[in-house]
Amino acid sequence: MTVSLEQLRRCHVAVDMGAARTRVFVKGAGLVVDEPSAAAVNTRTGGLIAVGRFAEEMTGRTPDYIRVVRPVSGGTIVDIEMAQRMLRQLIGEKLRRTLRRKPRLRAAVCTPHDADPLSRRAAVETMVGLGARRVELVDTLIAAAVGCGMPVEQPEATMILVCGSASTQVAVLSLGAIVTAERIPVGGQAIDNAIVQHLRQRHALMLPLQSVRPLHIALHGNGINQDGPESTEIHGRDVVTGLARSVHVDTAAVREALHTPLTTVLDGIGQVLRDCPPELVADLVDRGMTMVGGSALLPGLDTMLRDATGMPVHIAERPDTAAVLGLGAMLEGKIQPLVLDPLSG
Ligand SMILES: Nc1ncnc2c1ncn2[C@@H]1O[C@H](COP(=O)(O)OP(=O)(O)OP(=O)(O)O)[C@@H](O)[C@H]1O
Ligand SMILES: [Mg+2]
Repeated sequence: MTVSLEQLRRCHVAVDMGAARTRVFVKGAGLVVDEPSAAAVNTRTGGLIAVGRFAEEMTGRTPDYIRVVRPVSGGTIVDIEMAQRMLRQLIGEKLRRTLRRKPRLRAAVCTPHDADPLSRRAAVETMVGLGARRVELVDTLIAAAVGCGMPVEQPEATMILVCGSASTQVAVLSLGAIVTAERIPVGGQAIDNAIVQHLRQRHALMLPLQSVRPLHIALHGNGINQDGPESTEIHGRDVVTGLARSVHVDTAAVREALHTPLTTVLDGIGQVLRDCPPELVADLVDRGMTMVGGSALLPGLDTMLRDATGMPVHIAERPDTAAVLGLGAMLEGKIQPLVLDPLSG
């Protein structure tokens, strides 16, 4: 970890800004924000109309002069000013006043494992603009591992899979540090897109991204596994006529469409295991891997990974908020630091 637990303990607020959701943890108050990372803007006046779930609900339903923007893309804050305005609104006036009273506000922010300097800078600047005097950056993988109670400080390997919306991060951790890690640019969004593309090409049916979730569940019986129902009825809009239409979708074909993004994830897991020292791989065969992140909830993903890797796969208790809650636990001093003192004598 690049930042010490001691420094984190002095922070007041922890922030995890993802491509899909923004989460804020305030020391002493707990998780205060868990909302979609979206803002609706009036393009004529530049004014903010809505943020969070209200803004997301407006997606695709707005008149010309309202635009729904997403200030975070692929794990990076791409529009710092909009990210600040959105966060300010999401945090709310009362809490903002409490935070303003802190003379030296310190913030901790999760950043993806291989975030480049520009993306780190954007995270720092966003928080500085909100009044933070000091910003600590913590690797999402470490925060998430702490958040789901993995024994990261032990000299044995643990494997974590952070299944986000824009990317999937895989790592093997031991002694509180990352041994090997990969970030695969495939997440929940790519999986949903694959389903939308499939329906468009095979059935000439347009389906908004928001409507894909029911299809995940319909694919289930057993999710993306073989034993789900053979076909399921989906309502959408005909690509040619523009009229509402429903089709019976063959679930085996949808599973086929998901093959490409899921294989990319499996390749990334394979790469991490290949880069890992054999002693640690032996630990992993027993302990398996833990999945966190919103996409860990994709029905059947755990079974698919179990079948493909032959390793035990667990889903964290609260996969979606694991990273921010892990960061919160570090802020509140609930994590004991690992002391690696030189042996005397
Ligand atoms: N019950 C569910 N079933 C399937 N997918 C889900 C479910 N709940 C959330 N997701 C997916 O999880 C993703 C959001 O996960 P998460 O909140 O971890 O993303 P994020 O942290 O904003 O993204 P990132 O870390 O990649 O920037 C979305 O793509 C969403 O479709
Ligand atoms: Mg995330």
